[in-house]
Amino acid sequence: MRFHILTLFPELFTSVLAATMLQKGQERGALRFDLHNIRDYATDKHRVTDDTPYGGGQGMVLKPEPVVAALEALGTGPARPWRILLSPQGRPLTQEHAATLAARGQLALVCGRYEGVDERVRAFVDEELSIGDFILSGGEIAALVVIDTVSRLVPGVLGCGDSAAVESFSEGLLEYPQYTRPPEFRGQHVPDVLLSGDHGAIARWRRHEALRRTFEQRPDLLERAPLTDADRAFLASLVARRDG
Ligand SMILES: C[S@@+](CC[C@H](N)C(=O)[O-])C[C@H]1O[C@@H](n2cnc3c(N)ncnc32)[C@H](O)[C@@H]1O
Repeated sequence: MRFHILTLFPELFTSVLAATMLQKGQERGALRFDLHNIRDYATDKHRVTDDTPYGGGQGMVLKPEPVVAALEALGTGPARPWRILLSPQGRPLTQEHAATLAARGQLALVCGRYEGVDERVRAFVDEELSIGDFILSGGEIAALVVIDTVSRLVPGVLGCGDSAAVESFSEGLLEYPQYTRPPEFRGQHVPDVLLSGDHGAIARWRRHEALRRTFEQRPDLLERAPLTDADRAFLASLVARRDG
């Protein structure tokens, strides 16, 4: 999986890309990151990348020419990277969409700054992506969120091949609670079933706890989650307990 990052601040990425999972993914040949400074694509003498907004108002706007030149330098044919503009106005990033992006092979992530990018850049990207309903000062942290989320779905990046498959959202539910040693911590005990060695009972307990946790904390997810008859019966028992 190859990521092209188009930014005015490439230095913001270096330490994150050089550590832990993202570093290991590169060492294993599963990930590649290319940083492109948008300023390098400004053609005027002072390499200007922003200007005041037409119509007045506060702040500066990223000019379209260097952004589009940086995108087009990555190719314009069918093999070019999938182009993403990070924007609070974009479609929200979800685990499901991250899996689609992981299958694309090559992404170009455009990081906005200031008041945002000139509106005409939108015609040159394939999608706009938001990491949530809040405003960051730039697209770099949003790009890192996308990179981290997508990278852990790329085969060969995570040490244990299965660990991304059973996490929260991967089956439409929140994940079951996790415990490690010690068996008792300040009066709180690890559930007996997890110490039992009975793998069938552990799997049932985990499914029920995932359903319970989703029911309590994100009931909206249950509307779209693929549920079995047994899941529905368990949820009905939770509703009866709550209402009874
Ligand atoms: C201060 S924001 C601009 C916000 C813009 N004026 C608006 O109201 O939509 C600057 C840049 O940060 C990035 N950004 C801010 N919030 C974001 C979010 N929630 N998701 C993705 N990118 C975001 C975008 O690249 C944006 O161009």
